[in-house]
Amino acid sequence: MDKAIQLLQAGDLVVIPTETVYGLAANALNPSAVEKIYALKQRPATNPLICHVASIEAMLLYVAPTARAQIEPLLGKLSLFWPGPLTVVVPKADTIPAIISAGQPSVALRIPNHPLTLSLLSQLNFPLAAPSANRSNYVSPTKPEHVRNEFKSECPYLLDGGPCTVGLESTVLSLVDPTQPMILRPGAITQSQLAQALGIPVAIATQELSHQIPHQSPGQGALHYSPKTPLQLLSTFQFETSPYTRIGLIAFSADKGAEYDFAAVEVLSENQNQRMIAARLYDALRSLDAMNLELILIDSCEPVGIGAAIMDRIQRALTKK
Ligand code: TXA
Ligand code: MG
Repeated sequence: MDKAIQLLQAGDLVVIPTETVYGLAANALNPSAVEKIYALKQRPATNPLICHVASIEAMLLYVAPTARAQIEPLLGKLSLFWPGPLTVVVPKADTIPAIISAGQPSVALRIPNHPLTLSLLSQLNFPLAAPSANRSNYVSPTKPEHVRNEFKSECPYLLDGGPCTVGLESTVLSLVDPTQPMILRPGAITQSQLAQALGIPVAIATQELSHQIPHQSPGQGALHYSPKTPLQLLSTFQFETSPYTRIGLIAFSADKGAEYDFAAVEVLSENQNQRMIAARLYDALRSLDAMNLELILIDSCEPVGIGAAIMDRIQRALTKK
């Protein structure tokens, strides 16, 4: 912990555990430290970063003073989800450098739910900018070894907090128009949970809609989270006409996989348990992607509740024809 604090204060990167995925963290108020994140991730400068803080009081420091009176009650209503997998996008204070927000007038903020990272944040006097600790467009990391394997000798100092319990990136909720909250990225905190807490309807930004709204999530392009091995939905695959001999399967229940001589099978849950599927999805994608398979087939689930986030990530990872 002391070493992580020293490195971050000196403007260096540290890999931090969160309940969603591992993050590649730097002092959010130090533009040259934040530049190192973009460089190591090979992330386009147009894709803004989430700032992690320890409390709602800290969050409010980074909301534009002119918007605070309107935003504060909304944060109060959402407080039951923090620490946890919810990120809010709000009008930003001037102290947040332009490199964090990719030049937009808003900033994304969240309080992550991991004891190590909460303790770290409470000992720092700045927020931590942290995207998922993977190269741009690859699968997000949910275990320390995912980060080490990906960055190898370039891997920054890593705080090992074990496997991530949620396993999918946080729900991103835009409050830029406080009367029309909008989900920019689905996650473990669902649309209905947010609508109930806020007491008003919550929209979901579709690809089409996100072109019209002023503060869309640039990171939500269709090509994202993809393994290197071609990935296809099990439900659309024709076994009879398949030219492949080495196919892997990611199943969401234990009754799948007997219909074919798969080279590898990962069963994420005995019985379609969405929380377990979410927690294990990226680990399974990474394991099968390292096996030199010709094709990975993946199961589907109902796109309701956390299932909406699971299917969102799978749709983005599918090989586009
Ligand atoms: O669970 C998570 O959110 C993880 C952990 C490390 O906290 N972080 C994460 O960061 O997934 P990243 O950089 O991979 O994704 C951040 C998302 C992107 O879709 C980005 O476009 C969006 O948040 N975002 C960030 N700032 C924004 C802003 N000002 N307006 C709209 N979208 C924003
Ligand atoms: Mg990411």
